[in-house]
Amino acid sequence: MQTTISKLAASLASLPTHFKLASGDLIPSIALGLYQSPPNEAVDAIKVALKTGYRHFDTAWVYGNEAALGKAIRESDVPRSEIWVTTKLWNTFHAPADVEPIFNESLKNLGLDYVDLYLMHWPVAHKRGAYGRTDQELSENPYPTWQAMERLVESGKAKNIGVCNFNIRRLEKLMSHPLKVRPAINQVEMHFWNPQPEIVTWGQANDVVIQAWGPLSGSVGRHWLDKALNAPEIKETAEELGMTPGQVIISWHIQRGTVVLPKSVTPSRIIENFQVARLPDAAFERIEQAASAHPRVRLFDPSHSWGLDVFEEGTYQKR
Ligand SMILES: NC(=O)c1ccc[n+]([C@@H]2O[C@H](COP(=O)([O-])OP(=O)(O)OC[C@H]3O[C@@H](n4cnc5c(N)ncnc54)[C@H](OP(=O)(O)O)[C@@H]3O)[C@@H](O)[C@H]2O)c1
Ligand SMILES: *[C@@H]1O[C@H](CO)[C@@H](O)[C@H](O)[C@H]1NC(C)=O
Repeated sequence: MQTTISKLAASLASLPTHFKLASGDLIPSIALGLYQSPPNEAVDAIKVALKTGYRHFDTAWVYGNEAALGKAIRESDVPRSEIWVTTKLWNTFHAPADVEPIFNESLKNLGLDYVDLYLMHWPVAHKRGAYGRTDQELSENPYPTWQAMERLVESGKAKNIGVCNFNIRRLEKLMSHPLKVRPAINQVEMHFWNPQPEIVTWGQANDVVIQAWGPLSGSVGRHWLDKALNAPEIKETAEELGMTPGQVIISWHIQRGTVVLPKSVTPSRIIENFQVARLPDAAFERIEQAASAHPRVRLFDPSHSWGLDVFEEGTYQKR
């Protein structure tokens, strides 16, 4: 046990603890994800995470636990300035006039006077008061929404802004405008069953840091999560290195150059998920190749219910 811990500790430094954004800010490479974390459990989970060393938390207005995050931060002894807080703009507030009021509501929920990162949650604008009715034009051309987000950076209340769930075409289209602030981040579904190497490569070439959501493939229940933890390439690597399968997967994400956002409300897993280590090149390559060798499994695609082909991967049929 002693040897395993010191071996892990010795190699810990060799995986980046932060990535540099276009703004120059350093973002911690591992965050505690907070999707589906009930507020009362989230407070305790965040406190465990802060004690473990996490300094990055990923919430959203729609998760309903911004207040829990603010409470846990205030009740900890870690200074606000050492913590990276991300929250997100929900689809019903893409009209430019709606952005600042709902952002203010997020700040109020959090009890903070700024966030480190504000993300457009989806490239989908829902019409006001009509959940699920999509504004096709504003979804296809989110530049007016982006300009309202740029004003939040000018006010100093959002240090960085970015997007989620954008494919390369949508991001290139947004970035073809004369932006005052570039998207620092694209946060996308990314895991062993949907590794999207093309988005990782595109992000590196264009100075947009990629964040992997659902990194354990656990967003929609345990089926794909358990299948990933038991994949031979993951399981055998874990056994060889004296790590858990979850640690191997989380390490692989960071080693690919992506920020990783594992979610857990279980103290032992929160601690486990923070103990990452650089994988030997051969093990890394084996997992990278295995992840790309099977057909892509996208765990969450709201295209049909939202009436808009979000990912444009050739499987969506207009109804
Ligand atoms: N931008 C977006 O559209 C978007 C969409 C989805 C998610 N996200 C972000 O990404 C974060 C992560 O995604 P996710 O929560 O959907 O999925 P995930 O992190 O891949 O999986 C979470 C699940 O894995 C379990 N788990 C955690 N660590 C484990 C371990 N070491 N071994 C076994 N099981 C483990 C958790 O259980 P317990 O909690 O019970 O321990 C939970 O059921 C979210 O919390 C959110 O912050 C963003
Ligand atoms: C948002 O809050 C700021 C103060 O932090 C205030 O100046 C601004 O008027 C508020 N905006 C709206 C639309 O409420």
